[in-house]
Amino acid sequence: MKLINDLTKNVQHLMLDLQQMKVFCQDPLIIQEAKGIYLTDIHGKRYLDGVSGIYVVNVGHGNEYVIEAIRRQQERVSFVAPLHAVSDTTIQFAKKLTEITPSDLNTIKLISGGSEATESAMKFARQYHNQSGNPSKYKIIANYTGYHGGTLGAMSASGLGGPRKAVFGPFLPGFEHLPPPSCFQCPYNLQYPSCNILCAKMLEYMLEREGSESVAAFIVEPMSNTGGILVPPTEYFQEIRDICDKHNVLLIYDEIITGMGRTGNWFAAQTFGVDPDILCIGKGLASGYAPLAGMIVKDQLHFSAFWGDESENINFAHGHTFGGNPISAAAGLAVIEVMEKEKLISQGVKVGEYIRSQLQKEMTALGILGEVRGRGALSCVEFVEDMESKRSFPNSRNFGKRVEKRLLKKGLILRCDPHWIGFAPPLITTISQADEMVKIFVEGVSDELKNAA
Ligand SMILES: Cc1ncc(COP(=O)(O)O)c(C=O)c1O
Repeated sequence: MKLINDLTKNVQHLMLDLQQMKVFCQDPLIIQEAKGIYLTDIHGKRYLDGVSGIYVVNVGHGNEYVIEAIRRQQERVSFVAPLHAVSDTTIQFAKKLTEITPSDLNTIKLISGGSEATESAMKFARQYHNQSGNPSKYKIIANYTGYHGGTLGAMSASGLGGPRKAVFGPFLPGFEHLPPPSCFQCPYNLQYPSCNILCAKMLEYMLEREGSESVAAFIVEPMSNTGGILVPPTEYFQEIRDICDKHNVLLIYDEIITGMGRTGNWFAAQTFGVDPDILCIGKGLASGYAPLAGMIVKDQLHFSAFWGDESENINFAHGHTFGGNPISAAAGLAVIEVMEKEKLISQGVKVGEYIRSQLQKEMTALGILGEVRGRGALSCVEFVEDMESKRSFPNSRNFGKRVEKRLLKKGLILRCDPHWIGFAPPLITTISQADEMVKIFVEGVSDELKNAA
């Protein structure tokens, strides 16, 4: 009991992500154990992890194979400075990674987190143009709903505004934003397919107005999480690819969430059939067993502009102390092996499709279904107050956030926004565990509806 009291008291020494700590400290969620898809807090209460931590723990918690790989690596060498060397395991991991990335994307910069990956990608794009005869190309274009990380450059690319972003302004110059592909509530008020994917075509409109000779890259999440797990029409990707090629603008996919098996393939690039020039991976790369992220570029970009003699001084002028850390690399390698051996991507697809079909049925019955969308093991349900007119719940009602509190009490963790809730359980989740999640979810939503009636 003393330990529990001490932990509960001492949590105030921390600042958690985007948490009002005064409120969190009143009833902190302190996890002491995790196995499979279950987390256990210090009071012994069990939670179903319906969002893989936060789109991270794809192979599930406590995987013995991954733990053993880390232990073995720890005993041999735990740190090698990327400034002057690399570990054998890091090279083996990089080679393995090239076997699952789309073709030509084989040159990898390893780092520790998603924001470092997107920052690296944007810096790489700028330096690439600088060293390939187009030094005026520096602007980065992104979508308004995109989230690309919490550091200043990544935040400048992130499109969501609001008070949370405003407190850090002003942001870096040279970042522009476009309305996203969002068919459920199209920013242009159009319908797919008669819209003729205007959202993609607007990229060209912007490039022409901005002057494409000033634009280095377009960065996009294949499925925007903060937008509400938006699934663009498949043609969107070929259209933006063609526009980028025409204007010599590098296409960056931020696959921090969609990568590593989440959308039914190793990467959303494969799910949608169109490759980027630069791929950013994080979160699921080492499944949360160690901090690990990567920026992967097409070989041709690296070899044409960065590969040279010392005197040319053209290396990628960027680095982080923990990049390619041997422990993280060992974890990443073991994670890929587990996913292959246990065929986790197809398991994730099966369970994801099942969750979507159940949500469709249950939310319709409750009369608040806006849309169920997703791909593979990444699903979202958007609520509406009125199904006929698709009118959203008023922001002031904070519907999804209120549901989140109820779910937590009932032992289910999901990604909850005021207007939508995301499901992204570990890829090891079974159909009966998915049923348990949906059942608790439906109870939580029903209770909240009754409470408000
Ligand atoms: C799409 C996307 N990009 C980048 C990031 C930043 O990753 P990190 O929090 O590891 O820095 C996130 C984090 O949630 C993300 O969802």
